[in-house]
This record gives sequence, structure tokens and C-alpha cells, in this order.
Amino acid sequence: MKPLLGTLCLLGMLVHSGLGHHRSLVQQTQKLVDTTVTPWRSLETYSYNKYHRMEEIYQWMSQISEKYPDVVTQHFLGMTYETRPMYYLKISQPSDNTKKIIWMDCGIHAREWIAPAFCQWFVKEILQNYRDNSRIRRLLTYLDFYVLPVLNIDGYIYTWTTDRLWRKSRSSHDDGACFGTDLNRNFNSSWCSIGASKNCLDETFCGAGPVSEPETKAVSGLIESKKEDVLCFLTIHSYGQLILTPYGYTKNKSSNHEELIQVGQKAANALKAKHGTNYRVGASADILYALSGSSRDWAKDIGIPFAYTFELRDNGTYQFVLPEDQIQDTCEETMEAVLSILDDVYAKYWHSNSAGRVTSTTVALSLLVAFMSLF
Ligand code: ARG
Ligand code: ZN
Repeated sequence: MKPLLGTLCLLGMLVHSGLGHHRSLVQQTQKLVDTTVTPWRSLETYSYNKYHRMEEIYQWMSQISEKYPDVVTQHFLGMTYETRPMYYLKISQPSDNTKKIIWMDCGIHAREWIAPAFCQWFVKEILQNYRDNSRIRRLLTYLDFYVLPVLNIDGYIYTWTTDRLWRKSRSSHDDGACFGTDLNRNFNSSWCSIGASKNCLDETFCGAGPVSEPETKAVSGLIESKKEDVLCFLTIHSYGQLILTPYGYTKNKSSNHEELIQVGQKAANALKAKHGTNYRVGASADILYALSGSSRDWAKDIGIPFAYTFELRDNGTYQFVLPEDQIQDTCEETMEAVLSILDDVYAKYWHSNSAGRVTSTTVALSLLVAFMSLF
């Protein structure tokens, strides 16, 4: 099963890098995998109330992009340390509008299994509802969603095979003396200055240098290349029931701190309205702890206006080992919070800010020119 999947991933990469003639072979191989080793036969029986092994998530990603080829495409992002392919899903309605980008990643910390479960839930909800639900349809008119369901794939697999509570990646350090970098301490935002360790034995090891890990390189590379268009950067963790804003590396307030708190608080209210779950909203350094090298702080510092970390359920009872019977309610309430943020981001960008004004100014100017040319 392993070599077969490896071949499949490799072929998948070739297809996504443009070698389209391999497609029929990939499809045949995929069919073989589906009918022989898959415990679920099709998307219709995929359970969003369970945690899934990485093999299943890979298959889910390719099936969902095959089922909705007009709106979802799978894109190669890079390779993990252990040379597994990383893919993100792009959900995009074909249109002539200039689109802005919403980024969401899950599973940067391996043991936080509810996070990848939410990314999958989010994709499913958008795809099942975008035709009939006017709220989602409107969002997709102006926004593209980029979703990375499992950022730390090597670590995630390790939590299934060896150590359920593993947090970091699986890169080797000090000649194999210790393993793993905390990928959320490895971004280039005041790297390793506070709340991170230079000792590779520690849970918060920041890596050999800023962005030293292939996984953080892959994410920063993509976001950097599209940063002018990324409006919102969401990174999903557990646990603690928090919506966190920049910064973690300093007690200083970010440029639009008040706005971030207001949008976050509204999201927390929407979340609570679903199942009564209480969330707190605040800057990381104020309500959780100081930390440097996080992806959220980095995203904010390269100019992405809305950057949030979600710490999903629970509040300490089960911690990272949230029972499967809480997946559905957790995902339902989180969906409300995320949609609330996206509604606000959309409204702020398209109604109050320069994009709207530029267009109306352009229209007014060209009318004026046309009018004056009459004389
Ligand atoms: N996901 C968190 C992190 O990035 C861990 C949260 C632990 N929760 C807590 N309430 N301390 O480190
Ligand atoms: Zn985490």
C-alpha cells in the first residue's frame, strides 16, 4: 500500500506541474486504490465526524477536486522534510471579478487533530452550500479560499504511528540526536527571540534558523508571492478556545489592533450562539503567552491586514485528544466564527476601502473627461 501511494503522489505532482498526459494513469491508479484499500468508497461516505489518517486525507483531497473540478483545484505547495508532497486546495468560482485571497492552514502542530478535521469540514461546507446559500455565494464572488488541510504532514503521521502527543515536524538535528522543529516558531517574525527554544530537545525548538524547514519555506513562499492579494490569514490550532491576534513576539499593538479585536469578538459571539461555547479574544502576548516566529505574526508583518490564530476546543478536559463525538459541534461553531470574520473582511474591503473608491473615482473622472470633450 505504501509504495503504491508513493507512486500515486509522485504521479500527482507530475500532473500538477503540467504533465497532463499522465492523468489517465493517475486516474486508473487512483481507482485501484479506491476500490482495494479505501475503507470509505466515495466522498458520499467520507465521515467528517472522525479523525483520518494522512493517506485518507490525500485521497479525500483528490476526490473532492475531481468531484468539483469547476470550483476546487489541488495545487502542489512543496515537499515535507520526509519528502511527502504538500497540497493546498483552491476554492474559486470562475468570474471576471478581481479576487482577493483567504488563506487557512490546519495542523501545523501534529497532535492538534481537530484542526485538520476543521479544514476538511470547512471545504465540505463551502462546496455543499455555495450554490444555494447566498451568503457563501457572495463570499465566493469576491474571494478565493486557499486551504492547506495538514501543514505538518510528517508530524501528523508520526502522531498516528508512534506518539499521539508529538507536536513538532520530524527534521533531524545535531546528527540525529533529536528530532523536530516547532514550525510555529520557525517563521521569520522576530525569530527565536522569546517563547521559543534553541535546544532541539524542546517542544518549542525554533529550528536552525528562520524559515529553515521545508514546510515553513513552502508556506512563506506561496504567501509572499501573493501577499498583495491576501486579505486574511487564518491558522487553526487546538486547544484553549481562543481567537488570537498579533502579536505574540511583542506587547506592542498591531496597526489595526482595535479592528482585529472587534472583528474577532463578533466572531466569538457568533460561535457562542451556535452551541454556547465560550471563547476569549485578544493578542497572543496578552491572553496566551509570548512567542516569536509564528506564522500569524509573520503574515501581519508582511502586510496581511487580518491575521488570526484559532485555538479550538476544548478548555483543558481532553486537551489535544478531543473525542470524536465533539468534532461535529466544534466544526459547526468554528464555521460560524470563520464566516463571521469573512463577512466582515469582505464588507470592509469592498465597501469602505480604496478598492471601491478607486473604481468610483475612475468612473467619475472618465465621465468628466467625456463631458469636457463635448466642448
Ligand atoms: N496550540 C497551542 C500552541 O500553539 C497550544 C495550546 C495549549 N493550550 C493552552 N491553553 N496552553 O502552542
Ligand atoms: Zn498549536
